[in-house]
Amino acid sequence: MQSINKVLQGDRLDLLKKLPNHSVDACVTDPPYGLSKEPNFREVFSKWMAGEDYIHRNKGFMGKSWDSFVPGPAIWREVYRVLKPGGHILCFSGTRT
Ligand SMILES: C[S@@+](CC[C@H](N)C(=O)[O-])C[C@H]1O[C@@H](n2cnc3c(N)ncnc32)[C@H](O)[C@@H]1O
Repeated sequence: MQSINKVLQGDRLDLLKKLPNHSVDACVTDPPYGLSKEPNFREVFSKWMAGEDYIHRNKGFMGKSWDSFVPGPAIWREVYRVLKPGGHILCFSGTRT
């Protein structure tokens, strides 16, 4: 069996959307930790339970806006879609968030 590895660069959501359903064996990721001003978690979970992303407008680690908050449902829906049945996710996170 020939295996071909590729490195794809770009926005995570844009890249995930290009992958076919059930085509990925595992997702190993170190996403943003959201080391920012603590959000109102009632608001966050209300959004997430409705399947929506929470938009955090503060800057995160070292003033980077990409680190303002952790990935929400839009990303994980795509990860779940592309994973093969029985696929695994290994996801790093920050202890605070
Ligand atoms: C916690 S850091 C991971 C650091 C990495 N483990 C390392 O050692 O360099 C999160 C990474 O996600 C990247 N990132 C943030 N938003 C992204 C997005 N929308 N699409 C792709 N990568 C993104 C950031 O550039 C950052 O490198």
